[in-house]
Amino acid sequence: MNILDGKLVAQAVKDELKAKTELLKKAGKSSPHLAAVLVGNDGASETYVAAKVKTCEEIGYISTLIRFDADVEEDVLLDKIRELNEKKDVNGILVQLPLPRHISEEKVINTIAAEKDVDGFHPSNIGKMVQGQPAYIPATPYGVLLLLSHYNIETKGKHAVVIGRSNIVGRPMSILLSQNTPTGNCTVTICHSHTHNLKELTLQADIIVAALGKPAFLTADMVKEGAVVIDVGITRVEDPTKKKGYVIKGDVAFDEVAPKCSYITPVPGGVGAMTIAALMKNTYLAASLQE
Ligand code: GUN
Repeated sequence: MNILDGKLVAQAVKDELKAKTELLKKAGKSSPHLAAVLVGNDGASETYVAAKVKTCEEIGYISTLIRFDADVEEDVLLDKIRELNEKKDVNGILVQLPLPRHISEEKVINTIAAEKDVDGFHPSNIGKMVQGQPAYIPATPYGVLLLLSHYNIETKGKHAVVIGRSNIVGRPMSILLSQNTPTGNCTVTICHSHTHNLKELTLQADIIVAALGKPAFLTADMVKEGAVVIDVGITRVEDPTKKKGYVIKGDVAFDEVAPKCSYITPVPGGVGAMTIAALMKNTYLAASLQE
């Protein structure tokens, strides 16, 4: 069993971006600038956004964090996005999801200028991605592809089973793994809460991507010997013995599944770190394309 070390690979990606950003600065150009919008004070969203801002600092990007109270009017948020769209010195915009129920995620995503949509959630970017055209790829699936590629994991002709069909992870992941690319060319099955005989399908999988948000959902009896298992889950589970009061749990019962795998991602230290690295790559790309 081999660990897919997301922390290590993410660091390599960040080091490369930092070096490229230093070169930009030396050439008198501006650093890439990411604007992150956070609505409300959901604990997990606070943590993710703080990590994104911190990573910008680490690699020499400019970042702006814009915060709104949870009861902000939808129009106020949309106006702020429009303002950021117009700002020449802002290259990438992300609005952390989920949003409070009174705000339409669809309207928010559609309002972000496609060329600044470094999350790759805008229909224009999703459409381009589906057609294999250059586009911003959603950060989590992009991070998974970078990890597979770093470890030279063969995907061609393999059966990949993706569990979860969210717009952010499962659906784009399934499309990317099926494409005629070096990290694609899989036969893909996408499973969700209405899938019958899930175990029958996962037992056929050479590659499993678990992205459903249910701690320890994937157990050893669902995994065939030698499979590659990618755990996208990051659920906070209460644990009064911890200082923070919770622990982060993946979707995979790691201890029992790992011995059966050829490769597996840990949680934490797997896909989470790669998501931020991929977002940073998209932000660099945005700055280059807008130059
Ligand atoms: N919420 C969970 N994952 C993401 C992500 O990749 N981007 C944004 N904006 N919100 C998220």
